[in-house]
Amino acid sequence: MFECIIDKFYETRDASDEVLKCLIDLSDSEHLYECAMRRRREFYQDDVYTRGLIEFTNYCKNNCYYCGLRAQNHNVERYRLTPEEIYECADEGYALGYRTFVLQGGEDRYFSDDMICEIVRRLHSDHPDCAVTLSIGERERESYQAFYDAGARRYLLRHETANDAHYGKLHPETMSLEHRKQCLWDLKDIGFQVGSGFMVGSPFQTLDDLVADLRFLQELQPDMIGIGPFLPQADTPFGDRPAGSLKRTLNLVAILRLMFPYALIPSTTALGTIDPKGRELGLKAGANVVMPNLSPTRFRKLYAIYDNKICTGDESAQCRHCLEKRVETVGLRLVIDRGDVRR
Ligand code: 5AD
Ligand code: SF4
Ligand code: FES
Repeated sequence: MFECIIDKFYETRDASDEVLKCLIDLSDSEHLYECAMRRRREFYQDDVYTRGLIEFTNYCKNNCYYCGLRAQNHNVERYRLTPEEIYECADEGYALGYRTFVLQGGEDRYFSDDMICEIVRRLHSDHPDCAVTLSIGERERESYQAFYDAGARRYLLRHETANDAHYGKLHPETMSLEHRKQCLWDLKDIGFQVGSGFMVGSPFQTLDDLVADLRFLQELQPDMIGIGPFLPQADTPFGDRPAGSLKRTLNLVAILRLMFPYALIPSTTALGTIDPKGRELGLKAGANVVMPNLSPTRFRKLYAIYDNKICTGDESAQCRHCLEKRVETVGLRLVIDRGDVRR
């Protein structure tokens, strides 16, 4: 019976709230994943794109209740990479075949707009055939415009949850869903390729909240969609909450692929952390991007948004080879490419 419903979803690329809720909690998901694989293949063949992730600062002024980098966590040693260290990471990444660099960090105003622009310009002049993606949180529209003018073309900012009341349970009053959404619309308006997304199984999340996340993404039409299970971090207010479900996350990856056929969907580090084969399973459910870490190994453990994060002891080259093998085990191939969206 459900096979027909999934086939119809595959055709129409949309479903009612009720059907979506059933699919999110589907226990026999084989057909759902097969359809998602087929749809991914239509748009991206067997190609999996990589993004070299440079976690350049773990300072953050915010206090999201779920994240180990929150300002009030005094148990984490803070670090910042120097611009030179960032350029070295990118050079190493380039040699390993990465053609997109993601500069990711907490909300750290030590890195002024001018500094970020300078870094973006330098990365571009060092590697003109690469894309620079920023993932540095909420800033003013003028700042986003300056980053764009400096050559950044992609920006990742997960909305985290599209339900206002739920957002309020995950963040202190100083933060608002309305502002976060405004940032996303501003980024889009400026011309960025935008990435958004949410955690699966964050505390207090309901099935209705997840449907609201999907509906918000339908409005936003992002180029990239990142999701992963919530994972507790011991030094946060949610340190003793249960992790999100692997199965629900995989079902949602497949649902996203069917709703947003063109989207760049990473099989995230959080998926790899919750299960040793999590990233392979994500690819088999329709994901088409992996984001290995390029940060210097000595800093990796400190970028502790959640506990037991994988790859914190590995060199960039090890991650590259490890991922290449993992991608091959599911019949796909890592490509050396900027990995632009195919609409
Ligand atoms: N578990 C899983 N994901 C998390 N993030 C932050 N904290 C956690 C956690 N404890 C995600 C958020 C954020 C991204 C950088 O990492 O969605 O946007
Ligand atoms: Fe800061 Fe982002 Fe962590 Fe929130 S999720 S505390 S903004 S690094
Ligand atoms: Fe980092 Fe496997 S991807 S060691």
